[in-house]
Amino acid sequence: MKWLTSRNVFPLAVITLIISLCLQCAWIRQLYLAQKQDIKTKLESIVSNASKQIVYRSVSRGRERSSRFKQFFLSSEWFALRQAFDGLKLDNLHSQFHYGIDNDSTVVEMRMSFLNDPKKHFKISSSAKTDNMSPRQVSSDDQKDLKSLDSLVNRQLQQFDIRIHRNYALYDYSSGNLIKPVPVAKNKLSFVSECYTYNLKFLHRYQLVVGNIFWVVIFQMRYYLISSFMMLVLTAAAFYLLIRLMKNQQLYAQAKIAFTSNMTHELQTPISTISVALESIKKYHLIDQPEKLENYLNISVHELQRLQAMIEKVLKQEQMDLGETKLQFSLIDVQPILQQVIHAMEVQVQEKNAFITFLPTAEPLFIKGDAMHISNVFYNLIDNALKYSPVHAKIEVSCSIADRQLTISFKDNGPGINEIYQQQVFERFFRIFNQDNIHNVKGSGLGLHYVKQVIALHDGHVELYSKDGKGCTFMVILPLYEEN
Ligand SMILES: Nc1ncnc2c1ncn2[C@@H]1O[C@H](COP(=O)(O)OP(=O)(O)O)[C@@H](O)[C@H]1O
Ligand SMILES: [Mg+2]
Repeated sequence: MKWLTSRNVFPLAVITLIISLCLQCAWIRQLYLAQKQDIKTKLESIVSNASKQIVYRSVSRGRERSSRFKQFFLSSEWFALRQAFDGLKLDNLHSQFHYGIDNDSTVVEMRMSFLNDPKKHFKISSSAKTDNMSPRQVSSDDQKDLKSLDSLVNRQLQQFDIRIHRNYALYDYSSGNLIKPVPVAKNKLSFVSECYTYNLKFLHRYQLVVGNIFWVVIFQMRYYLISSFMMLVLTAAAFYLLIRLMKNQQLYAQAKIAFTSNMTHELQTPISTISVALESIKKYHLIDQPEKLENYLNISVHELQRLQAMIEKVLKQEQMDLGETKLQFSLIDVQPILQQVIHAMEVQVQEKNAFITFLPTAEPLFIKGDAMHISNVFYNLIDNALKYSPVHAKIEVSCSIADRQLTISFKDNGPGINEIYQQQVFERFFRIFNQDNIHNVKGSGLGLHYVKQVIALHDGHVELYSKDGKGCTFMVILPLYEEN
């Protein structure tokens, strides 16, 4: 899959994320509409059920009734019939309702009459006969039943865990006129139920009104919303990690190729020097000229040693990566080791016309460590500072103590390391390529990786502070030795 490079994967990931975001939005919208409808249906059934219950309670109040009586007044057919009867409001239609209960039987009458001549008008459109009851008693019964209905609606809402701000409107039963409006503008209402009677005195009809059910629906959908948000976040995180991994692998592959060509070049130089020397000895019979022979042999030995050192370095790194390196820990004073390394590098320093300052502390700085590896770390860091800085480089090595930690800093005024590479320079084989993609300075890309590993084995860490063009400061932080 040649097209699957990190350059193509990024737009692919973005497109996939946008598409899944759109799909999620469409799905959530559908779900929102369905849930909203569901809540409306639930509200309607709560009010109708409450009305059925209250009518039954008002009819049977104070009387022990037969099961047939209960069956009739709580049946859905009776409820539907009554709703239809109450809702039938036509011009000229006079409807009258009457019920009578005695010991033997219960009589329910629904009477509708209208004149065939449409020009003549009835005054009253609908009414209920309320046997021998005074208007006052009818009104007080009505108030009582209204209260019962409203509190039953409230209870059922709580039962279904629907937390809404609700209100009710009242309509006159006969004329159908609104007599108790709600204090909310009509266009701000999310739900308006049908009108229901709540007793058989037929004074008023009840209507449940809800202002805003948006947050109720959102609350009902909370688990869907959270899971869909989590899914998006997880997908984005997976893509991010995948792209990062791919980028790292590409960098690693590039670095490996660079390392191989670098190493081949480095190995080839001593081999060709030795073969030229041996060929010259043979061609010019240098056995007869012991002075020249010795010189050529010395060059060959020196080159062979260099070759051996290089191979050893790679092998040692391999061992360290496999965790096979065993460190020889002992109590060591860091400053004399630093002094020795700086002293050993004097020739290189002079060659580059560089200048090293060492700022030691007055007291000795003891750590538990492997002297050989620690001195290699110092060597690598000073070598880098020298190699990558231009001539007349100024290098400052200093030690300090804070919080039982020892900090050794190596500061140079070289080209610095761009922020984007500051993590990667510690990776195996990683080298920064200059603009022409050719490294001017020889190296393997193993030095800082080695430094990081050795310091980690000493329970310390390395920090890098640098800005492009403004030099580098590498800080080696190690725990100080403490006598228990
Ligand atoms: N002091 C420094 N100044 C500028 N760049 C540096 C410095 N030290 C390290 N680098 C960059 O970090 C890379 C990795 O360093 P290192 O692991 O020591 O490998 P090498 O020196 O073999 O290339 C180097 O190739 C170089 O680009
Ligand atoms: Mg190096």
